[in-house]
Amino acid sequence: MTLSLGWLSALFTGFFSAHVLQRLCFPYFWRDLLFLLKVIRYGVKIESYKLTSRVFTVLDRFIQQAHRIPDKPFVVYEGTEHTYRDIDRRSNRFAQVFLEELKLQRGECVALLMSNEPDFLCAWFGLAKVGCSVAFLNTNIKSKSLLHCFTCCGAKTLIVGSDLVDTLDGALTTLLADNIQVWAVKSSSEHTQVNTLLDKVVTASDEPVPAELRATSSLKSPTLYIFTSGTTGLPKAAVITQLQSLKAAAGFWAFGVTENDVMYVPLPLYHSAASLIGIGGTIELGATCILKKKFSASHFWNDCRKHNVTVFQYIGELCRYLCNQPKTDQDKVHKVMMGVGNGLRPDVWRDFQSRFGNIKMCEVYGSTEGNLCFMNHIGKIGTVGRSNFIYRLLFKYDLVKYDMLRDEPVKDQHGFCQRVEKGETGLLLSKVSALSPFFGYAGSKQLTEKKLMRNVFVKGDAYFNTGDLMSENQEGFICFRDRVGDTFRWKGENVATTEVTEILGQVDFIQEVNVYGVEIPGQEGRAGMAAMIIRPSFSFDGKKLFDHVMTELPAYARPLFIRIQEVMEMTSTFKQQKFQLVQSGFNPSTISDPLFALDAQQQIYIPLTDAVYQSIINGSRKL
Ligand SMILES: *[C@@H]1O[C@H](CO)[C@@H](O)[C@H](O)[C@H]1NC(C)=O
Ligand SMILES: *[C@@H]1O[C@H](CO)[C@@H](O)[C@H](O)[C@H]1NC(C)=O
Repeated sequence: MTLSLGWLSALFTGFFSAHVLQRLCFPYFWRDLLFLLKVIRYGVKIESYKLTSRVFTVLDRFIQQAHRIPDKPFVVYEGTEHTYRDIDRRSNRFAQVFLEELKLQRGECVALLMSNEPDFLCAWFGLAKVGCSVAFLNTNIKSKSLLHCFTCCGAKTLIVGSDLVDTLDGALTTLLADNIQVWAVKSSSEHTQVNTLLDKVVTASDEPVPAELRATSSLKSPTLYIFTSGTTGLPKAAVITQLQSLKAAAGFWAFGVTENDVMYVPLPLYHSAASLIGIGGTIELGATCILKKKFSASHFWNDCRKHNVTVFQYIGELCRYLCNQPKTDQDKVHKVMMGVGNGLRPDVWRDFQSRFGNIKMCEVYGSTEGNLCFMNHIGKIGTVGRSNFIYRLLFKYDLVKYDMLRDEPVKDQHGFCQRVEKGETGLLLSKVSALSPFFGYAGSKQLTEKKLMRNVFVKGDAYFNTGDLMSENQEGFICFRDRVGDTFRWKGENVATTEVTEILGQVDFIQEVNVYGVEIPGQEGRAGMAAMIIRPSFSFDGKKLFDHVMTELPAYARPLFIRIQEVMEMTSTFKQQKFQLVQSGFNPSTISDPLFALDAQQQIYIPLTDAVYQSIINGSRKL
């Protein structure tokens, strides 16, 4: 969403070209233009920070709002209103404690492991106020990955929510042995080595800490680390700079949301959608946010009615759960006008709108670490975004031909990629340049390099590989088709197949394993499936495997299906063949290999029979 000032003249020339006259007849022209002008205006504002010595960050904006509208509710949580002033003052107290008790230094990174609650925000803002960067940890994370996260971002301090202290169990000893200071957001603690924060926060001063501590002169300075599932084993810490936070905070505004709107945020704050777009966007506008600890389909509409919610954040699953609730005659009685999120399937989209009224659903496409973003500001069903000639001037992206069987892009005789025709599906690549920089991952140049593709169309160019297959039609609407290779999405989380492979490889009877995702009719994303070869003289033990995945993997990453194979297919470039396995799915009547399904009730992998298969397909079996 940025551009250098030089682009303006290019744009002007663009506007008056014959191309524009032709486009005037185009049905979306004015809506596109208004949207783009907003994006450009914001981009120019951000670019102008490059000319000054101080960046006006999202935190600065928050402090400004706390002075402008101190008594306006900022966050409503479990029925309690917290005004802008409340959160500003309380985060000052946190900041004072961070300075005086934790002795945190400006520039340090601190890990935050908390569920959604107002103190998540106070701790986050408090850390930002003393000039620390914050690493958000996924609350589902298991001990091995947790420890790895500290190595990634170099954090020496962990702040853990009161409800999560007990989930640390095994990891706590290792953390303490590694000299990580552990601070719980509680007033007292049973663990002698876990320090407590809240008793100190209560008595601390609510005066602001010196503003120089949070000052930053570069848009490129890291402010957050957000963990995303990697294609290479353990989670990766995507570096979120001030630039990205500022861009994301403008999302709601660009869609036309105003300060009079009330946002509903039921997604976890450790993801960029809720923290950067949801909270950042609320701050940018000076609006009010209804924060939920967890999403609840049965409470959703009552909450919306009670709080006069006008905008909500979603992932596709969430809308489906809402559609699956029993119908009531109140279904259209609410003030919700817009949803902002991603992963909404066209069938659920239609159901949702016919049932709950004409709510504009704005899909946003963009990964946490990516340098490209699409926004479906038109609200057209089934599309994640819109492109046109102006957009293409600002964002250099391309769709290139992809060979599913070989699991790699198609190359021509010179070794370059080939663009697809309009309407065809291709791999989305986004050019890395000064305008769209890619900041990579903390602590690993290697991981960063892996996400880049070089010499794509000419020698020396560099593109960010999104790993997503997309198509763009004649009208410029962009549709998400599939994800290639090593990750898939399930229950709103990214699953890294290599991470699951590594964990499954620890089981004694497994000789070789190949993890992938299969589609289940009526479900968003893909369910995890593992094809495996059993070691000679061992046999498959469904109980042992079940226990292993329960302790070692978060719920969304556990393979639901197992396929036992004699040999494992490779691609011609010696990668594990996934495509054909993905295509053949998990139907026992068409697959001759033995199949098993995870059974949470019986706590074991059970044989996947036709009856089990039917109950999954007809939706009667809980997944
Ligand atoms: C919601 O709107 C109604 C009618 O405009 C108003 O009476 C009510 O006080 C509002 N509720 C909240 C929580 O703002
Ligand atoms: C789903 O299939 C299972 C197994 O065939 C059957 O027992 C169950 O009654 C079916 N449920 C529905 C809702 O059709």
